[in-house]
Amino acid sequence: MTHSPRIEQRDGVDVYGNYIGGQWIAAASGETAENRSPTNPDEVIGLFAASSGDDVSTAIAAAEGAFDAWAATSAIARANILYKASEILAGRIPEVGRDLSREEGKTLKEGIGETTRAVAILRYFAGELQQPIGEHYSSATPTTLLFTLREPLGVCGIITPWNFPIAIPAWKIVPALAFGNTVVFKPASLTPLCAVHLTQALAEAGLPSGVLNLVTGSSGEVGDPLVADDRVVGISFTGSELVGNKIKRVAGNRGAKVQLEMGGKNPAIVLVDADIDHAVAQVINGAMMSTGQKCTATSRAIVDRRIAPEMAERLGRSIAALKVGDPLDDSTQIGPLISAEAADRVSAEIQAAREAGVGLAVGGDRPEGLNGHFVNPALFVDVDPGSRLGQDELFGPVLGVIPVDDIDEAIAVANSVRYGLSASLFTRDIGQALSFIRQIQAGIVHVNSETAGAEPHVPFGGYKGSSSYSREQGKASREFYTQVKTVYFDPPPARGT
Ligand code: UN1
Repeated sequence: MTHSPRIEQRDGVDVYGNYIGGQWIAAASGETAENRSPTNPDEVIGLFAASSGDDVSTAIAAAEGAFDAWAATSAIARANILYKASEILAGRIPEVGRDLSREEGKTLKEGIGETTRAVAILRYFAGELQQPIGEHYSSATPTTLLFTLREPLGVCGIITPWNFPIAIPAWKIVPALAFGNTVVFKPASLTPLCAVHLTQALAEAGLPSGVLNLVTGSSGEVGDPLVADDRVVGISFTGSELVGNKIKRVAGNRGAKVQLEMGGKNPAIVLVDADIDHAVAQVINGAMMSTGQKCTATSRAIVDRRIAPEMAERLGRSIAALKVGDPLDDSTQIGPLISAEAADRVSAEIQAAREAGVGLAVGGDRPEGLNGHFVNPALFVDVDPGSRLGQDELFGPVLGVIPVDDIDEAIAVANSVRYGLSASLFTRDIGQALSFIRQIQAGIVHVNSETAGAEPHVPFGGYKGSSSYSREQGKASREFYTQVKTVYFDPPPARGT
């Protein structure tokens, strides 16, 4: 047991523990799993606890044991801990941002930006706890004081993806804790180091033992028992549709509250009057930053037919000029994909689209001379909106241009997929912008900016298959992490004389 997440060293490699009941400890089995760099798979970043159901059960028991005292802690005292954690993490932005880029593969600038976002989330929720939380109503009986309280759920299971390895854990865990829940946190097995950094900042800030518990390992060994356990009353998940739907079944069937954030197939519609320079720059940012591995990434450029050739030509030129390489190198714009499997899958999808006759304008091959999981960013033109490339989420640096006749067709195409996370429109026409805002089936709508990005104080989530109707972040997060108690408070009858 130790107060440092590094519980030992093996052949010069740090071994990290789980954080359970306020202690950093090895998995019950003693097993570890390697975390390797996607940029240079020969580099082992660390060894992390390869946990199993026993560790999950111990963590749930710790979270259950800590719940009553944490829920009874004043919101202001909870806020102070969150604020202190924000300061600790803020002091480590260069180190944590670098570790993020090392283990996830996004550029250093993005790694630092994402860590800064996690700090902003901690600060936001520290402040949110000074805001009103319940509501006061008029009653039909004039002497009744009628109001609502919001109370925590209990133990929450937080299951997070690798593509935002510190921001997404922060935006789920921080509100869970802020509103008085205790947490068992299962991060993506590909990015455990960022999970350790976030947990350590909260631990050092004085979070009481058992309030936040980190259990690293695979989804089968850790995620499944967490989702199935009756003691876990809330589950918040971001990741694939496949896993999300399974969680909905398993946790939903046993009556847990479930929040799911899943895929996206996000459109950027470019109308004939748009500023083309601006649209090209924004569409490329939306499609290619983080190597296209965002659920908010732009994967379809739906362009007015009159400007589609020019737009495709300019997108192609800019995409071909993007510098692919080591994310820690300042000049790099596109890092590797997260894993060999991801790179192989994206390459296979690109190959399949080519074989189906879709026009590949640039990229899509594997760059020479690089050892990691790299795929050159690709642009397809004249994509059929009903094709696989037009419908399925690829989760990689691949953009398709779909020409359309007018805004009505653009919106119909945009809405023709099973997802509805984010969507952009590029135009100067306010009438078109307003009709887009009304008709688009998406939870996050941008006019003249890229589809990705999420500020911490506003709701985040999608329509249709992208989410489960609930929203994350900002004030929306209290809907998920609290339950409402309605209080009718009547005066006792006057004492008889
Ligand atoms: C962003 O666009 O900055 O997993 C955040 C994802 C989303 C988060 C996107 N849930 O990619």
